[in-house]
Amino acid sequence: MLDLFATATVTSLLKTTAAIGSTEGSLAPIIVGNTKRLAVLVVVAICYYIVYKFIDKLREWKRHYLLVEALPSPDTANSWLSHLSAIIACPNVKENKNHLNKNQKNVWPLIESWCKEMCYQKGHGGFLINILSPSRLPFASKCFFWAIDYELIKEVVNHPDLQTKGSTYDNSKSLIDHSVLIATGHDWKRMRKLTAKAFSNTVMKITHDASIRILHDKVFPYFDQKQSNTDNPYVDLVKLIGRFTLDVLGIVSFSYEFGGVDELVSSETTKFCCDSNYNEHQQQQEQQHESKKTAHQIMIEITRDIIITNRFRGLYTPKRMDKNVRDLNNVINTVVDTKMQQQQCNINNNKSNNNIDLLDHLLETQNGAPILTREEIVGNTKLFSFAGHDTTTTTLSAMFYELGRSPDIVERLREEIDPYFDDEHGSGCGPSYNDLRGNCTYVNKVVREILRLHPPALFSRKSATKEVVLKTSKFQYVLPKNTEVFMGPWISQRYYDSSSSSKNINNNNTKEEEAAAEKLQRKQPYDVFDPDRTIDDENYPFFPFAVGARNCVGREMAMAEIRVVLAQVVYHYDLILKPEDRIEGLEIYVVLTLKVGNYGMKFVKRKKIEEKKVNEAIQDFNSNNQVMESGNQANQHDESSNI
Ligand code: HEM
Repeated sequence: MLDLFATATVTSLLKTTAAIGSTEGSLAPIIVGNTKRLAVLVVVAICYYIVYKFIDKLREWKRHYLLVEALPSPDTANSWLSHLSAIIACPNVKENKNHLNKNQKNVWPLIESWCKEMCYQKGHGGFLINILSPSRLPFASKCFFWAIDYELIKEVVNHPDLQTKGSTYDNSKSLIDHSVLIATGHDWKRMRKLTAKAFSNTVMKITHDASIRILHDKVFPYFDQKQSNTDNPYVDLVKLIGRFTLDVLGIVSFSYEFGGVDELVSSETTKFCCDSNYNEHQQQQEQQHESKKTAHQIMIEITRDIIITNRFRGLYTPKRMDKNVRDLNNVINTVVDTKMQQQQCNINNNKSNNNIDLLDHLLETQNGAPILTREEIVGNTKLFSFAGHDTTTTTLSAMFYELGRSPDIVERLREEIDPYFDDEHGSGCGPSYNDLRGNCTYVNKVVREILRLHPPALFSRKSATKEVVLKTSKFQYVLPKNTEVFMGPWISQRYYDSSSSSKNINNNNTKEEEAAAEKLQRKQPYDVFDPDRTIDDENYPFFPFAVGARNCVGREMAMAEIRVVLAQVVYHYDLILKPEDRIEGLEIYVVLTLKVGNYGMKFVKRKKIEEKKVNEAIQDFNSNNQVMESGNQANQHDESSNI
């Protein structure tokens, strides 16, 4: 029908042009002498162009519509609004403890139900969601394709026409500009090579040591102080972890102390000590706040402003955002200048720098010229602080919540890590970075299971720059140009059907293989925290750090931090969840990444540690006494010899 219309219009236009030409003979005299006819000709040419373009667009819409029709998609009752109607009907995010997301729709249960229907009941590898109906509103319809099957996801990340990141990061641009996260082509390769080198073994050890130092110097004394506070012994854990991870990142990224934990502790101490004057004190602080913000406050405000910008779909950004980003750039620029002077000083004095942070790597030169521009150095330094902050906070927060209600898992963790704290058999200080990475199997299982159940980076998004064919051993889909492809570990990792891979193993009858098949067939529900779940199968969709060339470059650093915090906290403290929070369950919500609602946890020093401390104190006392006694004896001896 469209083709017929197109052919008819083009033919009639050609006829009109030919008619003008034939009545007047050649075009040259018309151009020179008769402006009226020239104008008619121009108008006809413009009309022809518009109609031609319109017909071209109609053809494009028709092709788009046919491709969309061929793709699997959940049924929709609304013939105009298509899937948008179901999205509009979604309730807002549960408004419990976070006040930032009043207007945020909770679409995850809906996507989850579509995924169950399309992939686990009907057996598709992915499904299409249409914003507005492609047949009724072809000019406005936008397609989102959810890739669920793991093989399909790998195909997506390796496809050359699916390398653009989509609009996910548009609202955070001022923070991640000039960084490896949004760079493309040659620039991305250059930055990725350098950043991958930056996350070296030395930096991992710095992460490990910095985490232990902050835990022992700031966090554990805070736990002890809270424990003795009979009014409220519960720590607001998500708040505290957010500050802790930022402090660690400051040190590892650019040797900068954000002082987030200090700020929390001192504000609580002030509140605790002078509760009656608290309002006055708070007012004073707020007045000072605008004139002199700490780097930590700037970071927190910027994160909040991104959330607000995101809520208003980029149409409104809080005024303070620009100033905050400028202030943060100034902080980082000062640190970069100091670092460059330090490096120069070390070169001049022939000193080697053992305390290498990520910024040191970013300042590397090649043939005397810096590899990154100044903007790229600042951009990537900022990115490291942001990319690793929220993600690690969510993982640690979800992990302690799950452990708070699984004492048996805590006991199994202790069986593994306690010997490393033993003075006789271990180092006495707990497992090292290498121990945690290679030898502590159960610690790794716990971390992996948390990243399966609560992956903080909920989804990544790629945009199809052309029409794209995705082909795997089971599925083939043709996606229209401009389709946004979503890959979500939260969905794919939860609903993997392990029984399909266990079928192959069941054919063999050896004992080990039968045991392996039995393990794979565990019928533990997918939303239950179970570190014994087998996810070593290579077909298991496990990609919390994304897959392909653009996976997370900070993965090992995040793992180093999570593992050491887990080992140190579980060794030193018993974890007691606040009863109300235990009953309510873990509150999770989405703002760019997955977030965990604040909850209370009491940290009680383990009896074993208390006893160890008492024994050490007794030993110290005895040895001091011995020294004193022998000193006294020596004095007596001296005195008697003097007599
Ligand atoms: C549990 C913690 C973390 C998780 C789950 C995580 C997850 C991810 C994911 C899914 C991506 C891909 C994003 C996309 O495709 O748009 C990514 C990229 C990235 N992550 Fe992480 N991340 C974590 C921690 C960190 C840390 C600690 C750092 C650095 C300090 C970091 C630095 C980066 C960078 C620089 C990229 C961009 C890589 C590129 O485009 O080449 N991440 N991360």
